[in-house]
Amino acid sequence: MPKVLVFGSMNIDYVYRVDHFVKKGETLTSKSLAVFPGGKGVNQSIAFAKAGLEVYIAGQIGEDGRFLLETLDAAGVNHDGVRITAEERTGNAIIQNDDAGDNCILAFPGANFRIAEEMIDAVLVGFEAGDYLVLQNEINSVEEIAEKASEKGMIVVLNPSPVNERITPELLASADWLFVNEVEAAQIVGNETDNDVLRAALQKQFPGKHIVLTLGEQGADYLSDGVCLHQDIFPVKVVDTTAAGDTFTGYFLAGWMRGRAPQECLRLAARASAIAVSRPGAAPSIPEAVELSDITG
Ligand code: RIB
Repeated sequence: MPKVLVFGSMNIDYVYRVDHFVKKGETLTSKSLAVFPGGKGVNQSIAFAKAGLEVYIAGQIGEDGRFLLETLDAAGVNHDGVRITAEERTGNAIIQNDDAGDNCILAFPGANFRIAEEMIDAVLVGFEAGDYLVLQNEINSVEEIAEKASEKGMIVVLNPSPVNERITPELLASADWLFVNEVEAAQIVGNETDNDVLRAALQKQFPGKHIVLTLGEQGADYLSDGVCLHQDIFPVKVVDTTAAGDTFTGYFLAGWMRGRAPQECLRLAARASAIAVSRPGAAPSIPEAVELSDITG
């Protein structure tokens, strides 16, 4: 079985419960504040580990983020590739979570954006051709990391989130897999809102790639040359959608790496995400594999 390296963000999530998202010029009192381990890198590495894979995380935190290492230990994620810097605080996210369970996220990169160039080589030396590199867009040097991993023959999985000027055509081209939600997909292919148009545009723009498109309440698709598979969601009472996409990524790829058919991978990932959205928080909401049988349908 190949190894999985998640080179990604590590955040402290401040989750504010609100009855609506704060508007321009408005001051809003939140109903509660909870602090959770998060960051797409942490969440995705935990999803891989809970799905039963051997997973390694590389990233950077400040002294204030040491508790994230305990969370990774508890999930069985190897964090030898995490550095602690005294010069910057840990990245954090201010998350508004409304009564429908929806969220909006404001992220401060902190130590995530201070990854030294020599660290990239030092981390990648432990991996070889056929191993998976999983990247999001919440750390610096993603293009360089993808390029170096690709040169080694690693399989590059990119979750281009958030989409901004750092998601370059070169970075997209270097990925073997893309995991995008409908908002990110629309930003990448040019603001298409219709799902069928989005699917066709992704397939046209990225021939030869594996693409997983998550569509919120409308389910998710696996797309590749000439293939378009769909999976509906498993309906549950939604508490907090944070990390649903991260959970989907980990469980889908875990299925794929075990040789499951893509339709079955979609199903596994949809089950895992259904559990994640029914619980509060990011990393703590990701289920163990044994829990997936609780979701039927
Ligand atoms: O994908 C969810 C994550 O995005 C949160 O945990 C937050 O830290 C942001 O990185």
